[in-house]
Amino acid sequence: MAAPPRVFLPEHKIQERIREMGEQISRDYPHGPLYLIAILKGAFMFVADLTRAISTPTRIEFIGISSYGRGKTSSGEVRVTKDLDVSIEGHDVLIVEDIVDSGVTLTYLLNVLGQRKPKSLEIATLLDKPERRLRPVQAAYVGFQIPDEFVVGYGLDYAEDYRNLRDICVLGEGVAAV
Ligand code: PRP
Repeated sequence: MAAPPRVFLPEHKIQERIREMGEQISRDYPHGPLYLIAILKGAFMFVADLTRAISTPTRIEFIGISSYGRGKTSSGEVRVTKDLDVSIEGHDVLIVEDIVDSGVTLTYLLNVLGQRKPKSLEIATLLDKPERRLRPVQAAYVGFQIPDEFVVGYGLDYAEDYRNLRDICVLGEGVAAV
């Protein structure tokens, strides 16, 4: 573990924004069930808070994705490592992501899930780094647009560390990028 992280988005701001996102999603989807599909592992904390901010009945599912040949972004081959346990055919589906970076992961997942005939398919992401985009992915719900900083905490990791931080933080100087 290297230099201590510095707070970038404090817990209260994250929670306030998630409440707003939940209200907007509840208005947009007045009828449940709304399927929230969280991408492991980074989105586990966001989906837990987001589902409690949504008044429409939700169902929570998890999907595992891995990508190869990636450096700081997922520029490599993407595949499903843990699939959904249920069919999403005919249902409203919201993919819940912690961060959209290159857009490679979501481009792949939109294609995979789109083939399963959901009634609707949209994306909710807590963080969006538009300047890193390699694929033109647009999330319907974005918590915060952020600059190209390497962020950790609130589910996001650096080599599996820091996921449990309540705030979203930037790692200090001298920490090599993954
Ligand atoms: C991160 C993040 C997104 C993806 C975004 O996952 O949680 O799923 O990268 O990057 P992209 O837009 O460039 O595809 P990661 O592979 O680090 O796994 P983790 O969620 O288990 O930490």
